[in-house]
Amino acid sequence: MVPWLISALSMCAFITCALAQTFTNHTVDGGEISGAIGSWRGQWDLYESELDYGGTHFASNGSDARLIFTFEGVAVYLIGPKFPDTLDCTVAVDWGEGHHVNMTNSSGNTLPYTTLWGISGLSNERHQLIVEKGTSENLYVDAFM
Ligand SMILES: *[C@@H]1O[C@H](CO)[C@@H](O)[C@H](O)[C@H]1NC(C)=O
Ligand SMILES: *[C@@H]1O[C@H](CO)[C@@H](O)[C@H](O)[C@H]1NC(C)=O
Ligand SMILES: *[C@@H]1O[C@H](CO)[C@@H](O)[C@H](O)[C@H]1NC(C)=O
Ligand SMILES: *[C@@H]1O[C@H](CO)[C@@H](O)[C@H](O)[C@H]1NC(C)=O
Repeated sequence: MVPWLISALSMCAFITCALAQTFTNHTVDGGEISGAIGSWRGQWDLYESELDYGGTHFASNGSDARLIFTFEGVAVYLIGPKFPDTLDCTVAVDWGEGHHVNMTNSSGNTLPYTTLWGISGLSNERHQLIVEKGTSENLYVDAFM
């Protein structure tokens, strides 16, 4: 092979490799969540459910329940089950616009954890995800990715 082609190929391989390695999804759950929560408001308890990612979730029935999850990266996703009864929350990145996350599934069944909401294209730095009570009685937090 001609030298310029070899170097072009290795350059491509290098770039592809670098892109593939730059961003990976990492799911934070259970005990690891506790370490990544910058702030808890209200009383929270840890519960077990086989429908949760990792088998546990945090929940609060406090009227002003809120938690702030801190992470470093370009995207964040909220992971959790879906329920037949009313369950929701509001999320916002870095105190920006609030997004309503509906955790209700109208099929009448409880569905195992899935990606409930997400945002990507953030600047690659430290961010805060603020999770607040929606319209439902309880705030249910399973895992973050
Ligand atoms: C991370 O997971 C989300 C949601 O499933 C997906 O859309 C995204 O492509 C994944 N990103 C990477 C880098 O694997
Ligand atoms: C909220 O949950 C706690 C247990 O964590 C319970 O003792 C309390 O009665 C609950 N309050 C309401 C209003 O449901
Ligand atoms: C609710 O669950 C059904 C399957 O039971 C599925 O087809 C539907 O897309 C789900 N809807 C939502 C909003 O998750
Ligand atoms: C949440 O989704 C359920 C099922 O699709 C729907 O009945 C309900 O009105 C939604 N709640 C909100 C606040 O959008």
